[in-house]
Amino acid sequence: MLKIRKAVLPVAGLGTRVLPATKTIPKEMLPVFDRPAIQYVVDEAREAGIEHIVFVTGRNKSAIEDYFDRAYELEDTLRLKGKTDILETLESEVPEAGSMSFVRQQAPLGLGHAVWCARELIGREPFAVLLPDVIVRAKPGCLAQMVDVYNREGGNVIAVEQVPEDQVSSYGIIDPETHDGRVMKMRGMVEKPSRESAPSNMSITGRYILQPEIFDLLSSQAKGAGGEIQLTDAMDGLMKSQSFHAVEYEGGSFDCGNKAGYLRAFVRFALDHAEEGQNARDVVEQVLKDR
Ligand code: UTP
Repeated sequence: MLKIRKAVLPVAGLGTRVLPATKTIPKEMLPVFDRPAIQYVVDEAREAGIEHIVFVTGRNKSAIEDYFDRAYELEDTLRLKGKTDILETLESEVPEAGSMSFVRQQAPLGLGHAVWCARELIGREPFAVLLPDVIVRAKPGCLAQMVDVYNREGGNVIAVEQVPEDQVSSYGIIDPETHDGRVMKMRGMVEKPSRESAPSNMSITGRYILQPEIFDLLSSQAKGAGGEIQLTDAMDGLMKSQSFHAVEYEGGSFDCGNKAGYLRAFVRFALDHAEEGQNARDVVEQVLKDR
């Protein structure tokens, strides 16, 4: 079985739900306490053994490329001022040379189209997709839990989590055929079903391990919901010839693509912070008292 070495991070969306904050800043660069959202997702990928990340970018996204480069002037100034702790943090987060690629999606035609844009850089091997506006808080990381299942089952693997039954119509929902603890063999999936027709309350989290045949389907995939080329539609097609397993991973997710989810993530990761967590708690409690 081929190892999962590469991951696609699609970052070409317009982020209209977090405007005006995202007018000139990519939503993936919004700080979640003291680090941009994208850093959490790159760390999750690295923890799972990913060696190469392909970013699918668009216009106004160059800040992401710069973030993963060295900042010589800044580093030099920090060195001169003796600010060694933060300097070490910055240096440790610069990826190994050649371990990231960037490809443009010239128009935001949908998530399926964004993934297809990475086809030449991925080649014919299984790969991961991580939606970077979803930050998952999990130990081990969500993708690492999925790789574990992939190493047993092969095929395609997606992460799912339970949502309240009255909210299923906001999510992509899976149709599980058999359960084995937290792992389910899937027979289908449906985008935003009504509460009555939903096959389960397991929603798709934004983490996927896919076989390269997905690119063949995406190359002729018709537009779906919202007039966009949808990854879900191509996965549904691939399910006719390949196995799909869903993992109910241990942990929780934060959708930073909307304002409430972003705020939740910001507060949660501030409270979790090793050095600043207690300060953050005091600040939050004070703000609530002051209202
Ligand atoms: P979303 O629909 O959540 O992102 O896509 P969006 O389009 O940026 O958000 P809104 O709805 O306008 O607020 C999920 C992921 O897919 C990427 C996005 O960047 C995000 O990470 N995406 C989406 C693309 O890269 N290209 C697309 O054409 C669409």
